[in-house]
Amino acid sequence: MATRSDSTAGNWWQMMPKVELHAHLNGSIRDTTLLELARELGEKGSIVFSDVEQVIMKNDRSLREVFKLFDLIHLITTDHKTVTRITKEVIEDFAAENVVYLELRTTPKRNASIGMSKESYLQAVLEGLMAVKNVDVDFGQEVNEGSTGNSHPTNDVCCLSNKKKIYVRLLLSIDRRESTEAAMETVELALRLKRSGVVGIDLSGNPAIGEWKTFLPALKFAKEEGLSVTLHCGEVPNSQEVHAMLDFIPGRIGHACFLEEDHWRKLKSYKIPVEICLTSNIRTESISSVDVHHFADLYESRHPITLCTDDSGVFSTSLSNEFVLAASTFGIGKKEMYELARDAINFIFGGDGVKEKLEEIFASAAVELEISID
Ligand code: IMP
Ligand code: ZN
Repeated sequence: MATRSDSTAGNWWQMMPKVELHAHLNGSIRDTTLLELARELGEKGSIVFSDVEQVIMKNDRSLREVFKLFDLIHLITTDHKTVTRITKEVIEDFAAENVVYLELRTTPKRNASIGMSKESYLQAVLEGLMAVKNVDVDFGQEVNEGSTGNSHPTNDVCCLSNKKKIYVRLLLSIDRRESTEAAMETVELALRLKRSGVVGIDLSGNPAIGEWKTFLPALKFAKEEGLSVTLHCGEVPNSQEVHAMLDFIPGRIGHACFLEEDHWRKLKSYKIPVEICLTSNIRTESISSVDVHHFADLYESRHPITLCTDDSGVFSTSLSNEFVLAASTFGIGKKEMYELARDAINFIFGGDGVKEKLEEIFASAAVELEISID
């Protein structure tokens, strides 16, 4: 099976259990799958394969180019069958490198020409979760009798197989191109799918587009209804918006590349966990080089942070690779990196039962990893 697990990341880092809290479904597709799908569309005459191939295989991408690439990816992937396939593969790939808890985010899409609604898009994602066969997937679902899916109650009593296990929870993304009504529709969908493992809402998309006030009603509603919220925050300089986002006190924020002194002060006083995406920030040139990344300051000041991939397919990375990069750049030892991985349990949007299970997984892995835990 082709996976993206980076061989340079080394075995120890792959063996270490990991928690991934910032991964976009359509950014995490295998290159091989994307090329195969593009070739098929090329043969049908829907796209010119050679043009698409060049874009997919390009390595240096500014933030602006990344969003052009996503439009292209969506053209290639947005039908029910393909959404199910890529979901299945993405979960297999994360599980293969010992991600034990994954919060996978995706933007529900509609495409009337193929009968796709936001709801049917999400059903296709859920089918992808159930289609995974080589790993036990716990997505917190309530199981109907007679269900044929890859489904396991969260209490774990049924898991007698020796298969690897991954806990997967879903976040529904609001795209910054969307209207207040469309954003509200996504939150309502998330509420209907709470029993199928949807735990929260994300705000993402091109940060140069859209205004905070457009999304605020839907985000407030989400919070009031008990959904957790994470925001892409400070991907471009926008001081007012960063203040407004921090004052909203989301459950977490992603990136935080263009924060100023008073933003940092606020972030730290509110103790909002930050999803750090090193490779993504470097590739999109949001941060000039990894050694000046704000990871260092946040880590030293013991601010809650978690390492994430963002778009492992688009940026050719893996979570193991992100750990290796942080350890080697900032001179952090294996024990401390293990603690960083384990502490992410505190920031998941999944419930307390899952947290306890993850604590157990990390505790037992410590022996194998030869880490002495205090
Ligand atoms: P999807 O939601 O599964 O379609 O994943 C791709 C989508 O995630 C993109 O179209 C963007 O809206 C969003 N996304 C992925 N990476 C980034 C990022 O770095 N910043 C903001 N939004 C992003
Ligand atoms: Zn992101």
